[in-house]
Amino acid sequence: MKIMVVGGGGREHAIIQKLKENSAIEVIYALPGNAGMRNDAVCVNIGAKDLDGIVAFAKEHQIDYAVVAPDDPLVLGAVDRLNEIGIPCFGPEAKAAIIEGSKIFSKNLMKKYGIPTAAYEVFTELDAALAYLEKCDYPTVVKADGLALGKGVVIAMNHDEAVDAVRSMMEDRAFGDSGSRVVIEEFLTGPEVSVLAFTDGKVVKPMISSMDHKRALDGDQGLNTGGMGTIAPNPYYTEAIAEQCMKEIFLPTINAMNAEDRTFRGCLYFGLMLTPKGPKVIEYNCRFGDPETQVVLPLLESDLLTVMQACTNGTLAETEVKFSDKAACCVIMASGGYPKAYENGFEITVEDGMSANIYFAGAKEKDGALVTAGGRVLGVTAVGNCLACAIAASYENVKKVNFAHAHYRLDIGKRAMEALK
Ligand code: AMP
Ligand code: GLY
Repeated sequence: MKIMVVGGGGREHAIIQKLKENSAIEVIYALPGNAGMRNDAVCVNIGAKDLDGIVAFAKEHQIDYAVVAPDDPLVLGAVDRLNEIGIPCFGPEAKAAIIEGSKIFSKNLMKKYGIPTAAYEVFTELDAALAYLEKCDYPTVVKADGLALGKGVVIAMNHDEAVDAVRSMMEDRAFGDSGSRVVIEEFLTGPEVSVLAFTDGKVVKPMISSMDHKRALDGDQGLNTGGMGTIAPNPYYTEAIAEQCMKEIFLPTINAMNAEDRTFRGCLYFGLMLTPKGPKVIEYNCRFGDPETQVVLPLLESDLLTVMQACTNGTLAETEVKFSDKAACCVIMASGGYPKAYENGFEITVEDGMSANIYFAGAKEKDGALVTAGGRVLGVTAVGNCLACAIAASYENVKKVNFAHAHYRLDIGKRAMEALK
């Protein structure tokens, strides 16, 4: 079989490495991939948002199955376009990807179908938003409606910060059209849990839970990033909470999407907060999370391609999705300075004797060497018999990966370990 994976980051590398365990696969093309994946996939220089290029490539190379991993091409309709030429895909059609593509859509969906989430108001006019900020409680949360590279959310501690956030989104268009409409919502507290779930639109099979670490610095300090590390499973996500989420959130979401004629097939990501009033949805993503995927898929014991095809074909009910009872930890190594300005082009070297997976995100080839080419450069994932073992092994292996000005957090998994005590 010939497989195509659209996307080029650490998440895609983790998907590709897992897919490769299926011996029926002859070749995996990554569009565009990155040079760090060159041993696992054939990287093709077509951008993830270049739908015409993606479709033309798939046709020319007679791709048997495509996996569209990032949000942008999903929201733009990459799956619809590939289906039109008869190529089966893993991922939702555009009309279902809107669950991530528009925060207003997802908030209204949750309200209509009684799915627990933060209270909110939608604003399409700057003046109305500013007037609301005069009377709301603080902290408050300001969100751009559309996709904003994960940066369209501001936790405003006070009125001034909220006004700055609203003005930068609605007036200065910091995120382009994504900020023409904003959601202002209630600030919730509690541990966060990421749950990725396979669904064929009929049944939903959650994967092992995980915990992201979004801030750049230890102790959850510093700026928000795309994610500096993850652990799985998330100790806050007990079996009782999982049952409650299935009943109150996962199934109602799948049913709501069906009722709206927006059947969701693929990986639905539930960003949850375990508040004192029960689990609530912070966000939906229409795809695998990054870097959650880098700890979840290494623990998947079932064949990934089989499960993905079951989501496409509507046969997930009779397909086993089994996870190991081990734990995993992924430490992201970033370029010094990230998420602000950073330099690229430093050589990446890996010492012998690695006992962990490396998932490359921002790497390219220069004169035969692998060099840094992005904010988040790579993730080091170790699997262990317990969470503490996985964390220790991940950091042991991080020491064997070198590039100039590397930055990584030293406390990935620390909060999870405290929860276990
Ligand atoms: P998002 O991009 O929607 O995942 O938001 C980024 C982060 O902002 C989340 O992971 C939460 O930590 C935080 N966040 C989003 N919405 C809320 C909320 N209503 N209350 C508290 N924190 C929030
Ligand atoms: N790790 C959060 C995301 O993928 O959006």
